[in-house]
Amino acid sequence: MKIVCIGGGPAGLYFALLMKKQGRHHDITVVERNKPYDTFGWGVVFSDQTMDHMRHWDPESAQEIQQAFNHWDDIELQFKGQVIRSGGHGFVGIGRKKMLNILQLRCEALGVKLLFEQDAASDLDFPDADLVIASDGINSNVRNRCPEVFKPDIVNRPNRYIWLGTHKQYDAFTFLFEKTEHGWFQAHIYKFDDQTATFIVECPEDVWLAHGLDQADQAESIAFCEKVFAANLQGERLMTNARHLRGSAWLNFQRVKCAQWSHFNGHSHVVLMGDSVHTAHFAIGSGTKLALEDAIELARQFKDQGDEVAHIPQVLKQYQALRAIDVIRLQNAAWNAMEWFEVCGQRYCDQLAPEQFMYSMLTRSQRISHENLRLRDKNWLEGYERWFAAQANLTAPVMAGHSAPNAVPPMFTPYRLRAITLKNRVVVSPMAQYKSVDGRVGDFHLMHLGARAMGGAALVFAEMTCTSADARITPGCPGLWNDAQQGDWKRIVDWVHQETDAKIALQIGHAGPKGSTCAPWQGAGSDHALPEGNWPLLSASAQAFLPNGQVPSAMTQQDMVRVKNDFVRTTQRAVQAGFDWLELHCAHGYLLSSFISPLTNHRQDAYGGTLENRLRYPLDIFTAVRAVWPAHLPMSVRISAHDWVEGGMTPDQATEVARAFKAAGADMIDCSSGQVSVQQKPVYGRMYQTPFADRIRQEVGIPTLAVGAISEADHVNSVIAAGRADLCAVARPHLANPAWTLTEAARIGYTAVKWPAPYQSGQPQLEAAFARERMLQSAGRGD
Ligand SMILES: Cc1cc2nc3c(=O)[nH]c(=O)nc-3n(C[C@H](O)[C@H](O)[C@H](O)COP(=O)(O)OP(=O)(O)OC[C@H]3O[C@@H](n4cnc5c(N)ncnc54)[C@H](O)[C@@H]3O)c2cc1C
Ligand SMILES: Cc1cc2nc3c(=O)[nH]c(=O)nc-3n(C[C@H](O)[C@H](O)[C@H](O)COP(=O)(O)O)c2cc1C
Repeated sequence: MKIVCIGGGPAGLYFALLMKKQGRHHDITVVERNKPYDTFGWGVVFSDQTMDHMRHWDPESAQEIQQAFNHWDDIELQFKGQVIRSGGHGFVGIGRKKMLNILQLRCEALGVKLLFEQDAASDLDFPDADLVIASDGINSNVRNRCPEVFKPDIVNRPNRYIWLGTHKQYDAFTFLFEKTEHGWFQAHIYKFDDQTATFIVECPEDVWLAHGLDQADQAESIAFCEKVFAANLQGERLMTNARHLRGSAWLNFQRVKCAQWSHFNGHSHVVLMGDSVHTAHFAIGSGTKLALEDAIELARQFKDQGDEVAHIPQVLKQYQALRAIDVIRLQNAAWNAMEWFEVCGQRYCDQLAPEQFMYSMLTRSQRISHENLRLRDKNWLEGYERWFAAQANLTAPVMAGHSAPNAVPPMFTPYRLRAITLKNRVVVSPMAQYKSVDGRVGDFHLMHLGARAMGGAALVFAEMTCTSADARITPGCPGLWNDAQQGDWKRIVDWVHQETDAKIALQIGHAGPKGSTCAPWQGAGSDHALPEGNWPLLSASAQAFLPNGQVPSAMTQQDMVRVKNDFVRTTQRAVQAGFDWLELHCAHGYLLSSFISPLTNHRQDAYGGTLENRLRYPLDIFTAVRAVWPAHLPMSVRISAHDWVEGGMTPDQATEVARAFKAAGADMIDCSSGQVSVQQKPVYGRMYQTPFADRIRQEVGIPTLAVGAISEADHVNSVIAAGRADLCAVARPHLANPAWTLTEAARIGYTAVKWPAPYQSGQPQLEAAFARERMLQSAGRGD
């Protein structure tokens, strides 16, 4: 095969050498526009795992790289005068120049032709090649020549960064954060040889502009960065080696992904590799890893499927199919990490104490969890757990046989809001059961809520409870508009208070346009109109939820007064029933949500149009309800923080919604999302709504409740410890297991939880079973 690699970066060189190694008969050329030892940048990092792959595929170059690399384990944060360090992170750093030189020499030794100082305008420059590898980097000519084929999706990110070097010695991956008069700057620093460290400086665009750095040349930029980080640099200089870049050398990160990775250009098969087809932000340090692993996978496919020209189409197809999955996973993690650094100035730097800031930074990609941190550095994590528990005013219990207090997992720290103290951070999320008759709750609800109150959660939410008969979603939904219903609820609340140490909350709501529908397992299913016995519906505007659904009437002033009074009366009854906590349901497309979202509110009056107007009625209700809800008891508001529809509510606006409810006296925002429009395209994943809770908590300064795909103690610990939310609501896992919290405590080996007295003989047995499981797992890992 005749192969030409356009671009002699890590991708092109590594693929060339692997293919030549696999078949000496291949005619392989790498065309590189730079001189052999001329490259931009300083050091790159990759993980121990990438090194293992390289050792397997080409021990010779891996050996050389291994001799040249610097390995280190620690991450150090220098922030607000504190230095915090945690270990076990396992990185490898090597000079980019050094690595390319090793790969170049290895290519030459194997017989790969290296053509330097040749600028390839296009893949069509090599018509006699069977295969052209477009390893020509982020600004790939080959990709840009055929956008209709490769369908690149390129996003320009808002932060500015400059890639510098220094001879100052660092013995850990170091992060510095410094505040200037215009905002925060951060530096990512890692050593890559005995004398040099990479020193990337980053800041938001507005901060960069405010300092006039758009007008600064490289020397001025360097002088500026030296001044900002003077306390750390202590007289050491910063350096650039990007003289080839014109102007300021401050860049914006571009996230690249492509729908198609290869095509036939009429003469040759052409395939993208490395940065030309995907990029990963330096916050996760894996662009080089991706480039090398692309090269490995393509070589592997040729090895497995045969390296004749006839096999190329199938090989390229399989290469994309396999690599695209890994790439998307890494890009998602890199995206979270990148966003963390983009918003840290407005969200974390001023808000979090250095200890929590460190935790938040280490878990920024949401790939590293609480238990991962324990595996990396148990001492540091336990120290942090103790610090966290102290913030929650909890003295860690001393366990038998221990002199120092044991660390308490953040999930099991108490939480106080107004006069209510919750024993831990787990909440049973409200879940409609559709088992009421005439809006009354009965034995089913006593069993359902009672079992969950015994199951270890600190707060148990009853399902959405409606303010009038016509406010119900289905005929099976509970209400609280008459004495009988009040008595039923009181029985449940009293039982929970008498038999458990859980608190119980009521969520009050009005179904609005989603009323008069079937239970999920009846008729046409959720959200579909009842086959008969429908009742008239109200909404912000006369718009049905489903395309052929029942059309509600747009609320009149009179309707608004009536519904507000219903909310107030229901609240008064909730007080009588003895609930500890009240939540106003302003999410999921129900009545109050229909006012907030522009997708469902098309009113022309004072209740439609701007967000301020759309919030007017929900805030009016909130204020009226808060006035009759006792001052010593907390009140939360559930919102849909994202409609997941173009033109709908966004997390930006949700922050404003939270601000408005905070000003009206809300204690906590319960951050759900979606269910407002059938057009929604949510992006699901572990803890997928937690970023909304995090943002609102930090930017608005109000406690938040995170919910959505939080299904393990490890998730709860990570969310709470990082300060992304104050509480975690867990819904579906509680359907499978009412004692979810007790079970999770045993699973992570936390034995200081109190089981209900009659159940206590089950506790040691479950704990022993999980202890055995953990032992087997750790033996399997070899720790
Ligand atoms: C600030 C910063 C820090 C980074 N830190 C890390 C890190 O710590 N760890 C990590 O893994 N990655 C890091 N990266 C990313 C990493 O540099 C790239 O992901 C990696 O180099 C991609 O390899 P590549 O071979 O695909 O492309 P490149 O390394 O960009 O190589 C492309 C090559 O093609 C050549 N070329 C381009 N066009 C032509 C043409 N028309 N004709 C001939 N030659 C051409 C270029 O000169 C270049 O040598 C960082 C990137 C930046 C910007
Ligand atoms: C059966 C069921 C009923 C639900 N009913 C309600 C409800 O009454 N009020 C509400 O705000 N959310 C309701 N939800 C949403 C949950 O409270 C929660 O936000 C959602 O299920 C995501 O959490 P999870 O991933 O832990 O299940 C319901 C969810 C389920 C599964």
